[in-house]
Amino acid sequence: MVAMIGIEDLMNGAETDSDRLVDTDTMIHFLKVIRLCTKEKETMKYDPKAMQNYNSTQEGFAEHYNATPPWDIGKPQAPFFTVSDQIKSPVLDVGCGTGSTSIFFASKGHDVTGIDFVEKAIQCAREKAAKQDLSVRFQIKDAMTLVNWDERFYSVIDSGLFHIYVGKEQKREQRRYVQGLAHVLKPGGRLFLLSFTDEAPEGGVSEQELSDIFADGWELESIQQVIGEINPTFLAEHPKAFPAGGPKMWFAIIRHIGN
Ligand SMILES: C[S@@+](CC[C@H](N)C(=O)[O-])C[C@H]1O[C@@H](n2cnc3c(N)ncnc32)[C@H](O)[C@@H]1O
Repeated sequence: MVAMIGIEDLMNGAETDSDRLVDTDTMIHFLKVIRLCTKEKETMKYDPKAMQNYNSTQEGFAEHYNATPPWDIGKPQAPFFTVSDQIKSPVLDVGCGTGSTSIFFASKGHDVTGIDFVEKAIQCAREKAAKQDLSVRFQIKDAMTLVNWDERFYSVIDSGLFHIYVGKEQKREQRRYVQGLAHVLKPGGRLFLLSFTDEAPEGGVSEQELSDIFADGWELESIQQVIGEINPTFLAEHPKAFPAGGPKMWFAIIRHIGN
């Protein structure tokens, strides 16, 4: 007859042995409960794919800013330091989050605008800039509205926004976003893009997809694979959310030739 195996034991991969055999009905019951528990666990875990649906994206990101967002490392991602002498003002940081990259370029003397559609992120960015006595225009703004904007920039920074809109269901948003980038970038201006590769568990783009997306009116000047840095507090709380060492990303410099 039945020697009870705890649900936790089963979920943790405990094997049954002859002393702990369960009858079929009990096993089916356990399996149903396990499925429920696993489902509950899945909805609770970090799941960036769940945000890859435009309608829920804003909500999903707003929620992230109530905790420690994985991308919020308090400084620019490494590739932006290496190209800092190639950045020309005016600079737009799209999806600027809490503003670390915008603030870094402002500290280098650039004229910087940072936009994000999460109010909390923008408030935090404004506070950080004020503490450092730096002037950055931080605005709550949806990147999907760039197509209607009158502002023009010579450099656009995209540190982790583009890859949110690369899934099959986001083709419309992706087109709109790329049209918006072309609209706000002066001819000859450049996009500095950091995006997950298609090998990242969150889903991203292949090199071919990236060059196809920027085929018309753009020139892909350089592309290299880099490793994204993740906030250590987030990593301690979610050790399995990203591959060991960090997610694979593309860092591309893309020149806007003209509309
Ligand atoms: C992965 S985070 C990167 C944040 C920041 N660039 C950084 O490197 O720390 C992506 C950011 O893009 C913002 N975002 C996503 N979709 C957006 C949209 N349509 N318009 C404006 N901001 C958006 C999110 O709120 C989030 O702050």
